Amino acid sequence: MIPQPAAGVAPARPAAQGRPPRRLIVSPSLLACDFSRLGEEIRKVEEAGADWLHVDVMDGHFVPNLTIGPVVVEAIRRASRIPLDVHLMIDHPERSLQQFLDAGAHYLTVHVEAPGLHEAAALQGALQTIRRGGAGAGLSLRPRTAATAITPFLESLDLILVMTVEPGFGGQAFLSEVVPKVQQVREWFAGDLAVDGGITPQTARRCREAGANVFVAGTAVFRSTSYRDVIQALRGPQ
Ligand code: DX5
Ligand code: ZN
Repeated sequence: MIPQPAAGVAPARPAAQGRPPRRLIVSPSLLACDFSRLGEEIRKVEEAGADWLHVDVMDGHFVPNLTIGPVVVEAIRRASRIPLDVHLMIDHPERSLQQFLDAGAHYLTVHVEAPGLHEAAALQGALQTIRRGGAGAGLSLRPRTAATAITPFLESLDLILVMTVEPGFGGQAFLSEVVPKVQQVREWFAGDLAVDGGITPQTARRCREAGANVFVAGTAVFRSTSYRDVIQALRGPQ
């Protein structure tokens, strides 16, 4: 237990000094794993120190690629012990939120650009549905979407996911031009700030310096010879 000052008593130190260091989270993206051995890959990455599991849901419309749906998310949930961070790259995510909540998502992230969420009220409603369903509400931005697109929703968010590649495929090169946006979002938002796409120990470091604390990495983890070493390196110096 962290001792708390009594109600009404000013803390001994200014808040900034007393603030605990931000938690650093590594969320390996299963998109790059060997799907023919999904359960084994999950076990291996958990044993190697992963904090969350990132699950990429793509519908062939919002992005050109097509991946998995709630049935597989539910199977991943049964095979895992750590939180599932589910990234919805789909049109009309509002129509499927309940299914992904029922499948066991701990964090559910929608895209601010998604058809179906263009009206602020619709997006606000989706974020409320996620929180009422007991999950953390996440909002993601494509590389070319301005940071200001998310400002009306900051109070309703547990997670902001800044895409550092065009969503759709693993294995793409990190877009350096997105780093200032990470820094801008961090100035406004104290919750979990994730980066996703082309994340390696080197690019993770640049994002960490800009204020990110959640590192989503597919290729860097699953195409490595030591999941443990890469996960540790992604978290940076302790
Ligand atoms: C891309 C996905 C990413 C992807 C990252 O649209 O959102 O989560 O799996 O893969 P890497 O780490 O290989 O860039
Ligand atoms: Zn993702």
